[in-house]
Amino acid sequence: MSMPSFPGASASDAAARDLLAALASGHPVDTAALARRLGLEEPALLAVAESLRARGLPLARTDEGLRLPWPLEWLDAQAIRAALPPALRELAIEVHWELDSTSSELLRRVGDIADESFVLAETQSAGRGRRGRHWLSPPGLNLYLSCRKRFAREPAALTGLSLAVGVMVVQALARFGLSGLGLKWPNDVVAEDGKLAGILVELAGERGQGCAAVIGIGLNVRLTDEIKAQIGQPACDLATLCGGRPPARNRVAAALIEALHEGLHSFDVQGFGAFHAAYAACDVLRGRALRLSGAVPAEEGVGAGVDARGALLLRTAHGLVPVDSGEVTVRPA
Ligand code: BTN
Repeated sequence: MSMPSFPGASASDAAARDLLAALASGHPVDTAALARRLGLEEPALLAVAESLRARGLPLARTDEGLRLPWPLEWLDAQAIRAALPPALRELAIEVHWELDSTSSELLRRVGDIADESFVLAETQSAGRGRRGRHWLSPPGLNLYLSCRKRFAREPAALTGLSLAVGVMVVQALARFGLSGLGLKWPNDVVAEDGKLAGILVELAGERGQGCAAVIGIGLNVRLTDEIKAQIGQPACDLATLCGGRPPARNRVAAALIEALHEGLHSFDVQGFGAFHAAYAACDVLRGRALRLSGAVPAEEGVGAGVDARGALLLRTAHGLVPVDSGEVTVRPA
């Protein structure tokens, strides 16, 4: 397995990188021996391990040394490229050890970075979810990926984009044999046990026609019990859905990138219409009693699918009401 290499890593991150490389096999790491090899004092190395544990990496101390409960492949831009079809290997793909948020990074650089750039991070210090929520982002366990994409369409024509991206995520995961995943309007990919992935679409103002969007995806690959307890809503991960052996994250990242590359192009040309039927096939809110809260007056009704723009259709006492995603939260009534 190659050493993880993270652009932007500071000198103190170097010890973390070496420790992570040693831990990747899942075998116990003799920290005294590793510290000697790295020219460090063992307490300094243990402090690095402690800071990784504090970020949510499930490091255990055993008699034989420090270990992860499973082997893992660190994110690696080269491995992601290698898993892409040759025509997509030139895409701009960055893998960082830590960012505040992959989406914030792309929003900061939106005017300077190539279109269809992808940014991933092993960990985010200020991962963002929808409606200002925090997105927990421990290292080594999940995927945090954002893409900058320019659309010829006006912002108003992008209302169904987060739903379409949900379809793309479901299609990407189908390659690993995962079927039966659902989409919960407007932006959740769900399985029976809870939320598997979240999608955050943010528009960046642009001069001239069209606009650029930053699309962020957080996908749970492995959640520890500790992380699950912190999430505050039912959540599930690929590991559980795959009988304890999730596909390698670099391959999953490549599948997401390929699905986004194709899907975002279709969306630009055909709009949400190209995804409407696939969305309907995964719509978990259809036919369910729902309560909406948020900017609209609280509303109750029954989910009746989505319209041609991707607005949720709610069958209420006074007829069919289309609801735009905006600031709304949908819960079972
Ligand atoms: C949600 O369900 O509320 C959306 C979650 C989106 C999380 C992803 S992780 C990658 C990207 N960076 C962020 O800070 N957020 C998105």
